[in-house]
This record gives sequence, structure tokens and C-alpha cells, in this order.
Amino acid sequence: MIKACIFDLDGVIVDTAKYHYLAWQRLAKELGVSFTLEDNERLKGVSRIRSLEIILEIGGLQRSEAEKEVMATRKNQWFVDYVNAMKPEEIYPGVHELLVALKSKGIKVGLASSSKNAPAVIRLLNIEHDFDAVVDGTMIVHTKPDPEIFLKAAQILGVSPKDCVVFEDAEAGVEAALNAGMKCVGIGSAKQLGKAHRVIPKTGDFRPADLESLS
Ligand code: G6P
Ligand code: MG
Repeated sequence: MIKACIFDLDGVIVDTAKYHYLAWQRLAKELGVSFTLEDNERLKGVSRIRSLEIILEIGGLQRSEAEKEVMATRKNQWFVDYVNAMKPEEIYPGVHELLVALKSKGIKVGLASSSKNAPAVIRLLNIEHDFDAVVDGTMIVHTKPDPEIFLKAAQILGVSPKDCVVFEDAEAGVEAALNAGMKCVGIGSAKQLGKAHRVIPKTGDFRPADLESLS
């Protein structure tokens, strides 16, 4: 029986995935690397440094660890600027209502985002109190598709992995959920997220009653 729902943040709760893309695109342009929306799918769910390494790989470029650190910090500053200009209304429709409805049914609600900016983003959206547990990019060693982040969230929630459902928009995130032995609802297209147990276009489309079909 499903006892906990664990949500990714960027692209599941709010459209900050587009801000990550815009900031990476700006950096790629500076580097002279052609970086498409399709390439961007590979960056979703993975850590900041790993994302940068993927862009360098695409461009056939090599940089020292110190140079990578400088570039990742620049990208993050652009991302933070976008996020600071964001309005709480940018949360996806129906998401806050879904989190509240799940809690009222006794389902635990967790957040598991590889982003180190996750706590700031949920504060800005005024939803930090909707979560019983928050695991962000500062709390993990291995990035998705490693299951670490979801297992940590389940542990804090006190729920066995098999009784958890993960909501994810990233291929790496779907794989991480499956690697954790959890159920997974993909948010987006079935073409990208076909390995998930169910794929829906938008998080707000989900209803607590839909959990039954995942048990
Ligand atoms: C999420 C996003 C990724 C992002 C990563 C790290 O997983 O899907 O696109 O690179 O977090 O985010 P951060 O805010 O720490 O750079
Ligand atoms: Mg995401």
C-alpha cells in the first residue's frame, strides 16, 4: 500500500527546469558549444557539476576542476537571478492542492531534489510546510539515477521504499526511483519517461485516488 509520495522539484512542482535550461544555454553559448533542448534532457535531475561535464563532453572540451567550479558558479548565479524574479504563482496549477489532499489522507509527502537551491525555491513558493521531509543536493553524494536521494527521503519519512511513489520529469529521476524499488509517476511524455509505472502530462492532473492503481 502506498504510504508516501516523494516529489522532484524542477519540472514537477514548478517550471524552474526552464531556468536551468536558459542558464546552461547561456554558458554553452559562451563556450561555443551547440546545446539543444534534446541535449538538455540529459541534464535533468543530475547535479550541477555533472551537468557541466555533460555540456563539456558535447562540445569535446576539457577544463580543469578549478575552471569547472568557476563556470558552475556563474551558471548558478544566472539561475538564482531567474528564480529570484519568479512569482509564487508560478507553481504548477493544482500542485499545492494535491500536496494538501495527500496529507489529509494520511499520506506522507517528501521532496527529493538534486538542486542545492531547492530549500530557497520552496520557501519562495510558500510550500515549505507542505513537506514532511526535504532532501536536497547538499545532502547526497550520488546524483540520480543513483537511488540515494529517494532512499534518504523514505528513511526520513519512515516509510519502506516499496510503499513510496516518486513523481519525476527526468529520465535519470525515473531510473533512480526504480533503482530505489519505488513506484514512479512520470511527468511529461511517455516517449521520454516510458519506464515509469504511469506517465501523466502534468502533476496537477494526479488525484490521491489514483494511488490505488499503483499499489
Ligand atoms: C535538479 C535539476 C537539474 C539541476 C540540479 C542541480 O536535479 O533537474 O537540472 O542541474 O537539480 O541544481 P542546482 O540548483 O544545485 O544547480
Ligand atoms: Mg526535475
